[in-house]
Amino acid sequence: MAAVNFDKVVKSFGAFTAVHGLDLAIDEGEFVSLLGPSGCGKTTTLRMLAGLEFPTSGEISIGDRVVNDLAPGERDIAMVFQSYALYPHMTVAQNIAYPLKKRGVPKSERGAMVQKTAELLQLTELLSRKPRQLSGGQQQRVALGRALVRDPKVFLLDEPLSNLDAKLRGYMRVELVELHRRLGRTMVYVTHDQLEAMTMSDRIAVMEGGRLQQFAPPTEVYRAPANRFVAGFIGTPAMNLIDGEIRQSGGTWQFHAPGLTLDCPPLLDSARPGPACLGIRPEGVVFGSGPIEGVVQVVEQTGHENIVVARIGADMRLTGRVGAERVWQAGETVRCGIDIDRAHIFAAGAAGERLNRPGLRPVEAPAVIKAAR
Ligand SMILES: Nc1ncnc2c1ncn2[C@@H]1O[C@H](COP(=O)(O)OP(=O)(O)OP(=O)(O)O)[C@@H](O)[C@H]1O
Ligand SMILES: [Mg+2]
Repeated sequence: MAAVNFDKVVKSFGAFTAVHGLDLAIDEGEFVSLLGPSGCGKTTTLRMLAGLEFPTSGEISIGDRVVNDLAPGERDIAMVFQSYALYPHMTVAQNIAYPLKKRGVPKSERGAMVQKTAELLQLTELLSRKPRQLSGGQQQRVALGRALVRDPKVFLLDEPLSNLDAKLRGYMRVELVELHRRLGRTMVYVTHDQLEAMTMSDRIAVMEGGRLQQFAPPTEVYRAPANRFVAGFIGTPAMNLIDGEIRQSGGTWQFHAPGLTLDCPPLLDSARPGPACLGIRPEGVVFGSGPIEGVVQVVEQTGHENIVVARIGADMRLTGRVGAERVWQAGETVRCGIDIDRAHIFAAGAAGERLNRPGLRPVEAPAVIKAAR
Protein backbone atom coordinates (compact mmCIF):
# COMPACT_ATOMS: atom_id res chain seq x y z
CA MET A 1 0.00 0.00 0.00
CA ALA A 2 1.53 3.29 -1.10
CA ALA A 3 1.71 6.06 1.47
CA VAL A 4 0.41 8.50 -1.13
CA ASN A 5 -1.22 7.60 -4.40
CA PHE A 6 -2.33 9.75 -7.32
CA ASP A 7 -4.51 7.82 -9.73
CA LYS A 8 -5.17 9.53 -13.09
CA VAL A 9 -5.46 12.90 -11.37
CA VAL A 10 -6.44 15.86 -13.55
CA LYS A 11 -6.71 19.46 -12.42
CA SER A 12 -8.21 22.09 -14.69
CA PHE A 13 -8.73 25.77 -13.97
CA GLY A 14 -11.49 26.68 -16.42
CA ALA A 15 -10.26 25.78 -19.89
CA PHE A 16 -6.64 25.43 -18.71
CA THR A 17 -5.40 22.06 -17.51
CA ALA A 18 -2.56 22.39 -14.98
CA VAL A 19 -2.15 18.66 -14.22
CA HIS A 20 -2.79 15.98 -16.85
CA GLY A 21 -3.66 12.44 -15.70
CA LEU A 22 -1.03 12.14 -12.97
CA ASP A 23 -0.21 8.61 -11.77
CA LEU A 24 2.24 8.61 -8.88
CA ALA A 25 2.68 6.07 -6.07
CA ILE A 26 4.88 7.25 -3.19
CA ASP A 27 6.09 4.64 -0.70
CA GLU A 28 5.79 4.82 3.07
CA GLY A 29 8.72 6.78 4.51
CA GLU A 30 9.96 7.93 1.15
CA PHE A 31 11.40 11.39 0.42
CA VAL A 32 10.03 12.34 -2.99
CA SER A 33 10.73 15.59 -4.80
CA LEU A 34 8.41 17.09 -7.39
CA LEU A 35 10.86 18.83 -9.71
CA GLY A 36 10.24 20.91 -12.80
CA PRO A 37 10.30 24.39 -14.29
CA SER A 38 8.04 27.19 -13.15
CA GLY A 39 4.39 26.57 -13.96
CA CYS A 40 4.72 22.80 -14.53
CA GLY A 41 2.10 21.99 -11.87
CA LYS A 42 4.17 21.15 -8.77
CA THR A 43 2.34 23.39 -6.31
CA THR A 44 -1.04 22.44 -7.76
CA THR A 45 -0.18 18.77 -7.23
CA LEU A 46 0.91 19.40 -3.65
CA ARG A 47 -2.13 21.55 -2.89
CA MET A 48 -4.42 18.77 -4.12
CA LEU A 49 -2.68 16.37 -1.76
CA ALA A 50 -3.09 18.89 1.05
CA GLY A 51 -6.78 19.39 0.30
CA LEU A 52 -6.37 23.04 -0.66
CA GLU A 53 -7.40 22.29 -4.26
CA PHE A 54 -9.76 19.60 -5.47
CA PRO A 55 -8.98 17.35 -8.45
CA THR A 56 -11.18 17.79 -11.50
CA SER A 57 -11.03 14.01 -11.90
CA GLY A 58 -9.06 11.05 -10.60
CA GLU A 59 -8.39 9.83 -7.11
CA ILE A 60 -5.88 10.74 -4.41
CA SER A 61 -5.27 8.44 -1.45
CA ILE A 62 -3.19 8.70 1.69
CA GLY A 63 -2.56 5.26 3.17
CA ASP A 64 -5.67 3.22 2.45
CA ARG A 65 -8.05 6.20 2.52
CA VAL A 66 -9.28 8.03 -0.55
CA VAL A 67 -9.01 11.66 0.54
CA ASN A 68 -10.69 13.44 -2.37
CA ASP A 69 -13.57 14.57 -0.18
CA LEU A 70 -11.66 15.13 3.06
CA ALA A 71 -10.92 18.60 4.40
CA PRO A 72 -7.22 19.46 4.95
CA GLY A 73 -7.59 18.99 8.72
CA GLU A 74 -8.82 15.41 8.28
CA ARG A 75 -5.89 14.23 6.14
CA ASP A 76 -3.16 13.78 8.76
CA ILE A 77 -0.69 15.88 6.79
CA ALA A 78 1.31 19.01 7.54
CA MET A 79 2.47 21.54 5.01
CA VAL A 80 5.41 23.95 5.06
CA PHE A 81 5.24 26.84 2.64
CA GLN A 82 7.87 28.92 0.89
CA SER A 83 6.91 31.95 2.97
CA TYR A 84 7.25 30.70 6.51
CA ALA A 85 3.99 32.42 7.47
CA LEU A 86 4.87 32.63 11.17
CA TYR A 87 2.64 34.69 13.42
CA PRO A 88 4.75 37.80 14.15
CA HIS A 89 3.10 38.62 17.48
CA MET A 90 3.60 35.12 18.89
CA THR A 91 6.79 33.71 20.37
CA VAL A 92 8.54 30.72 18.82
CA ALA A 93 6.93 28.47 21.46
CA GLN A 94 3.46 29.88 20.72
CA ASN A 95 3.98 29.52 16.99
CA ILE A 96 4.94 25.86 17.36
CA ALA A 97 2.09 25.21 19.79
CA TYR A 98 -0.52 26.88 17.60
CA PRO A 99 -1.55 23.81 15.54
CA LEU A 100 -1.96 21.86 18.79
CA LYS A 101 -4.11 24.57 20.29
CA LYS A 102 -6.26 24.69 17.16
CA ARG A 103 -6.79 20.94 17.41
CA GLY A 104 -7.85 21.16 21.02
CA VAL A 105 -4.80 19.49 22.57
CA PRO A 106 -4.99 20.40 26.30
CA LYS A 107 -2.55 23.05 27.45
CA SER A 108 -0.98 20.65 29.96
CA GLU A 109 0.19 18.39 27.10
CA ARG A 110 1.27 21.12 24.71
CA GLY A 111 4.36 22.22 26.63
CA ALA A 112 6.08 18.85 26.46
CA MET A 113 5.28 18.44 22.77
CA VAL A 114 6.70 21.87 21.94
CA GLN A 115 9.78 21.12 24.03
CA LYS A 116 10.41 17.85 22.20
CA THR A 117 10.01 19.47 18.78
CA ALA A 118 12.27 22.37 19.77
CA GLU A 119 14.98 19.95 20.84
CA LEU A 120 14.73 18.07 17.55
CA LEU A 121 15.25 21.30 15.61
CA GLN A 122 17.69 22.93 18.04
CA LEU A 123 15.29 25.73 18.85
CA THR A 124 15.24 25.32 22.62
CA GLU A 125 17.25 28.49 23.26
CA LEU A 126 14.97 30.51 21.01
CA LEU A 127 11.54 29.53 22.35
CA SER A 128 10.75 32.90 23.93
CA ARG A 129 11.83 35.02 20.94
CA LYS A 130 9.55 36.60 18.37
CA PRO A 131 10.02 35.72 14.67
CA ARG A 132 11.58 39.11 13.85
CA GLN A 133 14.39 38.31 16.29
CA LEU A 134 15.37 35.22 14.27
CA SER A 135 17.53 34.66 11.20
CA GLY A 136 15.92 33.32 8.01
CA GLY A 137 17.16 29.81 8.71
CA GLN A 138 15.86 29.91 12.27
CA GLN A 139 12.46 31.13 11.06
CA GLN A 140 12.37 28.27 8.57
CA ARG A 141 13.14 25.83 11.38
CA VAL A 142 10.24 27.24 13.40
CA ALA A 143 7.97 26.74 10.38
CA LEU A 144 9.19 23.14 10.22
CA GLY A 145 8.60 22.80 13.94
CA ARG A 146 5.02 23.92 13.54
CA ALA A 147 4.54 21.18 10.94
CA LEU A 148 6.38 18.52 12.96
CA VAL A 149 4.72 19.07 16.31
CA ARG A 150 1.59 17.15 15.38
CA ASP A 151 3.58 14.18 14.07
CA PRO A 152 1.54 13.86 10.88
CA LYS A 153 1.70 10.90 8.52
CA VAL A 154 2.91 12.91 5.53
CA PHE A 155 4.89 16.15 5.30
CA LEU A 156 4.37 18.43 2.34
CA LEU A 157 7.01 21.05 1.68
CA ASP A 158 6.69 23.66 -1.06
CA GLU A 159 10.06 25.26 -1.86
CA PRO A 160 10.79 25.74 1.84
CA LEU A 161 14.39 26.84 1.30
CA SER A 162 13.98 29.26 -1.59
CA ASN A 163 14.04 32.39 0.60
CA LEU A 164 17.37 31.47 2.15
CA ASP A 165 20.83 32.43 0.90
CA ALA A 166 22.96 29.79 -0.84
CA LYS A 167 25.03 28.85 2.19
CA LEU A 168 22.04 28.47 4.49
CA ARG A 169 20.21 26.47 1.82
CA GLY A 170 23.11 24.03 1.71
CA TYR A 171 23.03 23.74 5.49
CA MET A 172 19.24 23.28 5.63
CA ARG A 173 19.39 20.58 2.93
CA VAL A 174 21.58 18.49 5.18
CA GLU A 175 19.32 19.27 8.17
CA LEU A 176 16.21 18.17 6.29
CA VAL A 177 17.80 14.93 5.12
CA GLU A 178 18.88 14.22 8.68
CA LEU A 179 15.40 15.05 9.97
CA HIS A 180 13.83 12.75 7.43
CA ARG A 181 16.18 9.95 8.43
CA ARG A 182 15.33 10.37 12.11
CA LEU A 183 11.55 10.68 11.67
CA GLY A 184 11.18 8.11 8.89
CA ARG A 185 8.06 9.92 7.68
CA THR A 186 6.87 10.29 4.11
CA MET A 187 7.90 13.65 2.71
CA VAL A 188 6.80 15.26 -0.55
CA TYR A 189 9.06 18.15 -1.43
CA VAL A 190 8.39 20.65 -4.20
CA THR A 191 11.35 22.39 -5.79
CA HIS A 192 12.59 23.76 -9.08
CA ASP A 193 16.16 23.43 -7.82
CA GLN A 194 17.65 20.24 -9.24
CA LEU A 195 20.51 20.22 -6.76
CA GLU A 196 18.01 20.06 -3.89
CA ALA A 197 16.08 17.27 -5.59
CA MET A 198 19.22 15.32 -6.53
CA THR A 199 20.82 15.50 -3.10
CA MET A 200 17.79 14.93 -0.86
CA SER A 201 15.39 12.57 -2.59
CA ASP A 202 14.86 8.84 -2.63
CA ARG A 203 13.02 9.40 -5.90
CA ILE A 204 12.37 12.44 -8.09
CA ALA A 205 9.16 13.06 -10.00
CA VAL A 206 10.18 15.26 -12.93
CA MET A 207 7.25 17.26 -14.28
CA GLU A 208 6.82 19.46 -17.32
CA GLY A 209 3.67 21.05 -18.72
CA GLY A 210 1.50 19.35 -16.10
CA ARG A 211 2.73 15.89 -17.09
CA LEU A 212 4.96 13.47 -15.23
CA GLN A 213 8.10 12.93 -17.32
CA GLN A 214 9.98 10.43 -15.15
CA PHE A 215 9.76 9.06 -11.61
CA ALA A 216 13.00 7.44 -10.53
CA PRO A 217 15.93 7.69 -8.09
CA PRO A 218 18.29 10.64 -8.66
CA THR A 219 21.09 8.61 -10.24
CA GLU A 220 18.67 6.99 -12.67
CA VAL A 221 17.16 10.32 -13.66
CA TYR A 222 20.73 11.52 -14.29
CA ARG A 223 22.13 8.45 -16.03
CA ALA A 224 19.09 7.22 -17.88
CA PRO A 225 16.79 10.19 -18.57
CA ALA A 226 13.49 8.96 -19.95
CA ASN A 227 13.32 11.62 -22.62
CA ARG A 228 14.97 14.69 -24.06
CA PHE A 229 13.21 17.05 -21.66
CA VAL A 230 14.57 15.27 -18.57
CA ALA A 231 17.99 14.97 -20.22
CA GLY A 232 18.18 18.71 -20.82
CA PHE A 233 16.63 19.74 -17.50
CA ILE A 234 18.82 17.67 -15.17
CA GLY A 235 22.54 18.39 -14.96
CA THR A 236 24.72 21.52 -14.84
CA PRO A 237 26.18 22.37 -17.26
CA ALA A 238 23.37 20.90 -19.32
CA MET A 239 23.71 17.80 -21.50
CA ASN A 240 24.80 18.56 -25.07
CA LEU A 241 21.86 17.86 -27.36
CA ILE A 242 22.68 17.64 -31.06
CA ASP A 243 19.94 17.26 -33.68
CA GLY A 244 20.59 14.92 -36.56
CA GLU A 245 19.37 11.58 -37.77
CA ILE A 246 19.97 7.90 -37.14
CA ARG A 247 20.56 5.46 -39.97
CA GLN A 248 20.91 1.72 -39.97
CA SER A 249 23.28 -0.10 -42.27
CA GLY A 250 23.91 -3.79 -41.84
CA GLY A 251 23.48 -4.46 -38.16
CA THR A 252 24.86 -1.13 -36.97
CA TRP A 253 23.23 2.18 -36.21
CA GLN A 254 24.94 5.46 -36.87
CA PHE A 255 24.12 9.00 -35.85
CA HIS A 256 24.67 11.72 -38.47
CA ALA A 257 24.74 15.46 -38.08
CA PRO A 258 26.51 17.97 -40.35
CA GLY A 259 30.23 17.26 -39.88
CA LEU A 260 29.61 14.50 -37.34
CA THR A 261 29.16 10.74 -37.81
CA LEU A 262 29.21 8.39 -34.84
CA ASP A 263 28.27 4.81 -34.03
CA CYS A 264 25.22 4.79 -31.77
CA PRO A 265 25.14 3.22 -28.33
CA PRO A 266 22.98 0.04 -28.38
CA LEU A 267 19.43 1.06 -29.29
CA LEU A 268 16.07 -0.31 -28.22
CA ASP A 269 14.14 -2.47 -30.66
CA SER A 270 11.65 0.37 -31.03
CA ALA A 271 14.25 2.64 -32.72
CA ARG A 272 13.49 3.53 -36.34
CA PRO A 273 15.72 5.34 -38.85
CA GLY A 274 15.01 9.06 -39.13
CA PRO A 275 15.42 12.35 -37.27
CA ALA A 276 16.89 11.94 -33.79
CA CYS A 277 18.95 13.74 -31.18
CA LEU A 278 22.30 12.80 -29.69
CA GLY A 279 22.72 13.58 -25.99
CA ILE A 280 26.09 13.64 -24.28
CA ARG A 281 26.87 15.05 -20.84
CA PRO A 282 29.87 17.41 -20.58
CA GLU A 283 31.80 14.71 -18.69
CA GLY A 284 31.33 12.39 -21.68
CA VAL A 285 33.08 14.83 -24.02
CA VAL A 286 36.82 14.34 -24.47
CA PHE A 287 38.96 17.40 -25.22
CA GLY A 288 42.49 17.06 -26.57
CA SER A 289 42.06 14.07 -28.86
CA GLY A 290 39.36 12.60 -31.05
CA PRO A 291 37.86 12.70 -34.52
CA ILE A 292 36.05 16.02 -34.24
CA GLU A 293 37.77 19.35 -34.82
CA GLY A 294 36.56 22.32 -32.85
CA VAL A 295 37.48 25.85 -31.86
CA VAL A 296 37.44 26.81 -28.20
CA GLN A 297 34.93 29.59 -27.59
CA VAL A 298 34.50 29.94 -23.85
CA VAL A 299 36.45 28.60 -20.88
CA GLU A 300 34.96 28.71 -17.39
CA GLN A 301 37.40 27.95 -14.62
CA THR A 302 35.66 26.69 -11.51
CA GLY A 303 38.86 25.90 -9.63
CA HIS A 304 38.80 22.11 -9.60
CA GLU A 305 37.78 21.75 -13.24
CA ASN A 306 37.24 23.75 -16.39
CA ILE A 307 34.09 23.96 -18.45
CA VAL A 308 35.08 24.37 -22.09
CA VAL A 309 32.65 25.28 -24.86
CA ALA A 310 33.90 24.56 -28.37
CA ARG A 311 32.28 25.29 -31.72
CA ILE A 312 32.23 22.32 -34.05
CA GLY A 313 31.07 22.50 -37.65
CA ALA A 314 29.13 25.58 -38.70
CA ASP A 315 26.76 26.10 -35.80
CA MET A 316 27.18 23.28 -33.32
CA ARG A 317 28.53 23.74 -29.83
CA LEU A 318 29.98 21.12 -27.54
CA THR A 319 30.41 21.70 -23.82
CA GLY A 320 32.99 19.60 -22.02
CA ARG A 321 34.04 19.21 -18.43
CA VAL A 322 37.82 18.86 -18.30
CA GLY A 323 40.54 18.81 -15.67
CA ALA A 324 41.93 22.11 -14.44
CA GLU A 325 45.56 21.13 -15.27
CA ARG A 326 45.32 22.02 -18.96
CA VAL A 327 44.44 25.64 -19.59
CA TRP A 328 42.49 26.10 -22.81
CA GLN A 329 42.40 29.45 -24.56
CA ALA A 330 39.52 30.92 -26.53
CA GLY A 331 40.29 30.71 -30.26
CA GLU A 332 42.48 27.63 -29.87
CA THR A 333 41.84 24.68 -32.20
CA VAL A 334 40.99 21.51 -30.30
CA ARG A 335 40.39 17.86 -31.18
CA CYS A 336 37.34 16.47 -29.42
CA GLY A 337 35.68 13.11 -29.06
CA ILE A 338 32.45 11.74 -27.67
CA ASP A 339 32.53 8.79 -25.30
CA ILE A 340 29.83 6.77 -26.99
CA ASP A 341 29.21 4.53 -23.97
CA ARG A 342 27.93 7.63 -22.22
CA ALA A 343 25.88 8.97 -25.11
CA HIS A 344 22.12 8.82 -25.46
CA ILE A 345 19.91 8.88 -28.52
CA PHE A 346 16.49 10.52 -28.26
CA ALA A 347 13.58 10.53 -30.68
CA ALA A 348 13.07 13.84 -32.49
CA GLY A 349 11.10 16.61 -30.79
CA ALA A 350 11.26 18.47 -27.50
CA ALA A 351 9.96 15.49 -25.51
CA GLY A 352 11.47 12.72 -27.65
CA GLU A 353 11.85 9.51 -25.64
CA ARG A 354 15.20 7.83 -25.08
CA LEU A 355 15.94 5.25 -27.76
CA ASN A 356 19.13 3.71 -26.36
CA ARG A 357 19.35 1.05 -23.68
CA PRO A 358 20.12 2.58 -20.30
CA GLY A 359 23.21 2.42 -18.17
CA LEU A 360 25.97 0.46 -19.91
CA ARG A 361 28.71 2.01 -17.89
CA PRO A 362 28.28 3.94 -14.66
CA VAL A 363 28.56 7.66 -15.14
CA GLU A 364 29.74 9.72 -12.20
CA ALA A 365 26.61 11.34 -10.86
CA PRO A 366 26.85 14.62 -8.94
CA ALA A 367 27.98 14.27 -5.35
CA VAL A 368 25.12 12.95 -3.27
CA ILE A 369 25.08 14.11 0.32
CA LYS A 370 22.15 12.00 1.38
CA ALA A 371 22.99 10.24 4.60
CA ALA A 372 22.74 6.45 4.76
CA ARG A 373 19.35 5.34 6.02
N1 LIG B 1 -6.06 29.12 -9.18
C1 LIG B 1 -5.57 29.06 -10.43
N2 LIG B 1 -6.28 29.52 -11.48
C2 LIG B 1 -5.82 29.44 -12.75
N3 LIG B 1 -4.62 28.92 -13.09
C3 LIG B 1 -3.86 28.45 -12.07
C4 LIG B 1 -4.28 28.50 -10.70
N4 LIG B 1 -3.31 27.94 -9.94
C5 LIG B 1 -2.33 27.59 -10.80
N5 LIG B 1 -2.65 27.89 -12.08
C6 LIG B 1 -1.83 27.62 -13.27
O1 LIG B 1 -1.46 26.26 -13.28
C7 LIG B 1 -0.13 26.10 -13.72
C8 LIG B 1 0.66 25.34 -12.69
O2 LIG B 1 0.82 26.17 -11.55
P1 LIG B 1 1.66 25.71 -10.28
O3 LIG B 1 1.53 26.77 -9.25
O4 LIG B 1 1.24 24.35 -9.90
O5 LIG B 1 3.13 25.70 -10.88
P2 LIG B 1 4.51 25.36 -10.17
O6 LIG B 1 5.08 24.18 -10.86
O7 LIG B 1 4.33 25.25 -8.70
O8 LIG B 1 5.40 26.64 -10.54
P3 LIG B 1 6.46 27.50 -9.66
O9 LIG B 1 7.76 26.77 -9.75
O10 LIG B 1 6.50 28.80 -10.40
O11 LIG B 1 5.92 27.63 -8.27
C9 LIG B 1 0.40 27.49 -14.02
O12 LIG B 1 0.31 27.74 -15.39
C10 LIG B 1 -0.52 28.39 -13.23
O13 LIG B 1 -0.64 29.66 -13.84
MG1 LIG C 1 4.97 26.43 -7.07
